[in-house]
Amino acid sequence: MEAIWQQLESHRVESANTPILSLFGDAERFASFSADSDDLLLDYSKTSLDSTALDLLLRLANHVDLDAKIKAMSDGDQINTTEGRAVLHTALRAQSDTPILVNGVDVLPEIRSIRHQMEIFAKGVRSGEIQSADGGRFTDVINIGIGGSDLGPAMATLALTPYHDGPRCHFVSNVDGAHIHDTLANLDPQRTLVIVASKTFTTIETMTNAETALVWLRAALGDNAADHLAAVSTAQDKTAALGIAPERVFGFEDWVGGRYSLWGPVGLPIMLAVGPENFTDFLRGADAMDTHFKSTPLRENLPVLLGLVGIWHNNICGYGSRAVLPYDQHLQRLPAYLQQLDMESNGKRVAQDGSALPRASGPVVWGEPGTNGQHAFYQLLHQGTKVVPAEFLIAAEAHESDLQHHHNLLKANCLAQSEALMRGRSHAEARDVAAKRGFEGAEQDRMAAHLSFPGDRPSITIAYPKLTPFHLGQIIALYEHRVFTEGAIWGINSFDQWGVELGKELAVALLPMVEGASAETKDGSTKGLLSKLAASPNQ
Ligand code: F6P
Repeated sequence: MEAIWQQLESHRVESANTPILSLFGDAERFASFSADSDDLLLDYSKTSLDSTALDLLLRLANHVDLDAKIKAMSDGDQINTTEGRAVLHTALRAQSDTPILVNGVDVLPEIRSIRHQMEIFAKGVRSGEIQSADGGRFTDVINIGIGGSDLGPAMATLALTPYHDGPRCHFVSNVDGAHIHDTLANLDPQRTLVIVASKTFTTIETMTNAETALVWLRAALGDNAADHLAAVSTAQDKTAALGIAPERVFGFEDWVGGRYSLWGPVGLPIMLAVGPENFTDFLRGADAMDTHFKSTPLRENLPVLLGLVGIWHNNICGYGSRAVLPYDQHLQRLPAYLQQLDMESNGKRVAQDGSALPRASGPVVWGEPGTNGQHAFYQLLHQGTKVVPAEFLIAAEAHESDLQHHHNLLKANCLAQSEALMRGRSHAEARDVAAKRGFEGAEQDRMAAHLSFPGDRPSITIAYPKLTPFHLGQIIALYEHRVFTEGAIWGINSFDQWGVELGKELAVALLPMVEGASAETKDGSTKGLLSKLAASPNQ
């Protein structure tokens, strides 16, 4: 394996002086370096990957037996070895009836029975058949959860805004009281349904926000507050403590990771907002990508190719971050969602066997929708000293058909950015621009230095017909499997998250100190900050 890495590094050195733009001298460049699945296109032709690099990267994938690893995940093997769990979010959206076994038991009947329970509940709330305590309709839903119990449903609910015909959905995650306070301030408890979503039902932020919401409900509804509650959890025994009726509890199993959980009961707000049929289409889209991932040769396999491009940029070119730039306002929360998906999964420093990784693992993921980002951080993307591979997402068609001009402008901007990143502006071209602006002689040269763009900056573009539930499902599953592919090549466990534990433990220990207990055992900075942050009696 090391030999393949070395060949990749040597190839990078040899090809570093070949501009990306020059690769389009091959008329087949776009056709050869793009791939399609169910109308979702991945264009990675505007990267420095050439066929030699791609062949070597595919050898890496074969070397780690990626096909067998994909099969192991889909078959329910215990691939999350530090938690002793299978990884089966794909089962939540499986459309076929082929049994998926965990410890010899087919998990599909239980998944479908819970989904049926969700559908009955969602239909009841949406039709008004399931009523609030005063016999009225639920007009608003608050989902209280954090991390995977928030980001997935929040991102997808926003993404599917054009399909909303159910109650308004609000999402409270932060333990900062401002979040729940500001949300409750605009809502009527008589009309509001609260979903407490927590895989473990122990997460302090969620439990604290749930208690606050319960106090709010009780103040208005007294003993009927429970009529306004539902819960989503793997720990169904713990949900009773909040007084939630068992038929309002939607369970799932521990083989669904938090950041992969939106396909099951954690997706309840999505189903409430857009209805069971659209939710089913969302699952179908993800399942289509799963089928593609499992059955397509690696060379044409979208998640694999996306992963290999990631490996090339991160490990071979040394680019430590990637920007996710949806030219789709409804995907506003996609970068935040992908931060958890990618960085919680692949932000690891040891291999499965506990040995230190010999090379970089997960990159920093960040981003904002275009065109907003263009007027903020794109300056650095174009002219900064750091190269950040950009990932553009764009639909052929918008939902706002009466605003076609907006969408045309959006497309033009998206394509302009990837072109500008690749093409740049040479010093000679920049001098012409400077001359047109009236600069002459040495001043013209000085200005040209500021006006030139190095170019040769890589990007990929994911293009889809329209942001329908189906295509949203495809896009999310594409990214999930990209994370899987990269994790498999690095040899890490992409399904645990031990790195979040230490901060949680220290927060528990610090709470009494924040409340006045002695902080003698703490370092000087922590002591100093505790003292500075102590509430002033005069305020
Ligand atoms: O702290 C990290 C984490 O465990 C995430 O992996 C998870 O999505 C989030 O917290 C919320 O956990 P839970 O759903 O158990 O409340």
